[in-house]
Amino acid sequence: MKIPLSNALLDEKDIYEVLKVLKSKRLALGPYMKKFEEMVKNYVDTKYAVAVSSGTAALHLILKSLDFGENDILLTSSFTFISSANVALYEKGNVHFVDIEPDTLNVSLNALEEEIIKTKKKNSRLFFMGVDIFGHPLDWDKILDICQKYSVEIIEDSCEALGSEYKGKKCGTFGQAGAFAFYPNKQITTGEGGIIVTNNEKIYQITKAMRNQGRTSSKWLSHEVIGYNYRIDEMSSALGYSQMKKIDKIIEMRNKAAKNYEKLLTFLEIPVIKSYVTKMSWFVYVVKLPKGTDINKVIDYMAKNEIETRNYFAPIHLQPVYKKLGWKEGMLPITEEISKRTLAIPFYSEITFEEQEKVAFYLKKALELFS
Ligand SMILES: Cc1ncc(COP(=O)(O)O)c(C=O)c1O
Repeated sequence: MKIPLSNALLDEKDIYEVLKVLKSKRLALGPYMKKFEEMVKNYVDTKYAVAVSSGTAALHLILKSLDFGENDILLTSSFTFISSANVALYEKGNVHFVDIEPDTLNVSLNALEEEIIKTKKKNSRLFFMGVDIFGHPLDWDKILDICQKYSVEIIEDSCEALGSEYKGKKCGTFGQAGAFAFYPNKQITTGEGGIIVTNNEKIYQITKAMRNQGRTSSKWLSHEVIGYNYRIDEMSSALGYSQMKKIDKIIEMRNKAAKNYEKLLTFLEIPVIKSYVTKMSWFVYVVKLPKGTDINKVIDYMAKNEIETRNYFAPIHLQPVYKKLGWKEGMLPITEEISKRTLAIPFYSEITFEEQEKVAFYLKKALELFS
């Protein structure tokens, strides 16, 4: 049987909660959205949470709530999912990509400070989209120092890091607001969905109105600001609510799977976890192939043996849409070198040890053939 890259953990309790919604016929803006928001905000320990239709919608609304616009600059990594940067382009702003640390694959602190110093001269407002890549927290104390020093506003793209902790504090809570995403490959899923978490009442009020066509009161046809339909429906919220009940178990299962890979993949560069990470909530498991390996041949070979793998991430700055804006090969050497050899291998809460053994076995063979 094929071993997929990811696989949501869904059980009878999830099905029960979603069916309950269908039977109630209250399919939108109902009690489950509020319950789901309560659970997430209590879990990450913020004052407010606003559930929306996707992680991208969450990031977009956060930027809108901070009045990010045409003359503003968003600094972020190119080694992330494309939404981390795209949301700045939605608002006709500018994106400046910063190179990464080769070990954690998170943004490089030195490169970030250098880019801030360079860009500060342009007299623009600067924002940093801090991505906790693959669930591994950024070094937040240092990031906060740098951003405070140069008055850079912080948004935390924690879409891949629900449950991860930096020095005992949950990811998603380090910037003015944070975002989580719930596509089925994430730690918990709502099918499609996302959430904004914040301690800032203004951000809460604005994002809550903007997810619902700019409504600020219960009057259905009263619109105070330009908004969007970024609402999450009740089926998704009920699933999220039910999934949140098992978040601790999910994180534990994924940690166990990561430990198994650590034992099985001694012939490879496996993910690095820094000592400041007090809790790791694994999103995907990404290994680095040796330099010179033909990654496409490895992917094909694994697929022939019924194992799904993917080259995570292809740098954003080299995507056609960003190349048109002037980005080219050679601008972010570490990102470019690393991304040629980062491979996501099957990883999900219920992966069995036998499946992991099979992955390790064929990966070793693939390296013998294509390195
Ligand atoms: C780092 C990061 N940011 C943003 C998103 C966007 O989330 P969504 O796909 O729910 O819009 C994702 C989802 O894959 C992500 O991994």
